[in-house]
Amino acid sequence: MTGKTFGSVFDRQIFVNIQGEIQPAESASVNVMDHGFLYGDSVYETIRTYRKVPFLLARHIDRLQRSLGRIYLEMPCSRTDLESQVQKTIDAVPVEGDLILRIVVSRGVGPIGLDLGTCTQPRYLIYAMELTSDSIPEEAMPDRGGGGVHVVVSKVRRNSPRALDPSIKSGNFLNNILAYKEARDARAHEAVLCTSDGYIAECTTSNIFLVKDGLIWTPRPWGILDGITRAVLFEEAEAAGIPISETDIPPEALFNADEAFITSSVKGVVPVCMVNGRGVGVARETDKGRRGPMTHTIQKLYQARMENEYLAHFNSGEHADSPRASSADVD
Ligand SMILES: Cc1ncc(COP(=O)(O)O)c(C=O)c1O
Repeated sequence: MTGKTFGSVFDRQIFVNIQGEIQPAESASVNVMDHGFLYGDSVYETIRTYRKVPFLLARHIDRLQRSLGRIYLEMPCSRTDLESQVQKTIDAVPVEGDLILRIVVSRGVGPIGLDLGTCTQPRYLIYAMELTSDSIPEEAMPDRGGGGVHVVVSKVRRNSPRALDPSIKSGNFLNNILAYKEARDARAHEAVLCTSDGYIAECTTSNIFLVKDGLIWTPRPWGILDGITRAVLFEEAEAAGIPISETDIPPEALFNADEAFITSSVKGVVPVCMVNGRGVGVARETDKGRRGPMTHTIQKLYQARMENEYLAHFNSGEHADSPRASSADVD
């Protein structure tokens, strides 16, 4: 990747496919009357590629369709067309390594006003950019010793499901942006938001897990995004015989956890070594902020799953190409 474009406000080159036409983000534009821009009236998905194959694309499109249904918005093209536009975008982007893809479906152009019926042409956009090491906190890279990120418990509460349900992956992101500001002000990497009932919900762009006495706990799926990485970890942990459960978690439990980690499609599984400036688990004694053994096991299971999905993609019989040699080493 050539890196920054001179004078660009972006930290990397970004390309965008707008309704089938791919161009650099710097020269692309959307209509000022698009309700995605005016009202945050849009839904989206963020996907990573693994060796240039979109990881768990079908699940992301399923969730996109669920989000669309919840906001009464029609997909502007068929599922097959969307899948082939995703592939077309991956193929067109001049980036060597893996990509972050962001599929956005916006309400489209309409007059000022809240009547959904006035916007008759929803639009899709597929953004593509390099998955750089900045995308994953350096401390969290499994091959760099496995440190961890710092999180703060935010004063901002997660949107109530009775207001704007966080299970809709909506482009209306101010709730998370305000919590993230708190994290940055505290020089932390992420903010943990609680539900309106005061239990831990999730982070601004990730789900959260903690480990206590050999068990993995994560918040119930109420008032959170049903993360795809989260779902995969349930499958992998259960298959490996690791106990994993959902429950109501008060924020204090984070301070007493043996380990904690956060998950997302872009970041994967990232250890948390500090909460509100206090070390988690083993870091309480050493102050070194190192990941715990369960987090390490989960990271390895997740990495193996990416590898297996990649091989399954080529073994499905639909793809003439054979997989490239593996360069991914967890440790
Ligand atoms: C609010 C929120 N929670 C959780 C996640 C993690 O979800 P996934 O694992 O599907 O990427 C995200 C990802 O963008 C998110 O924005």
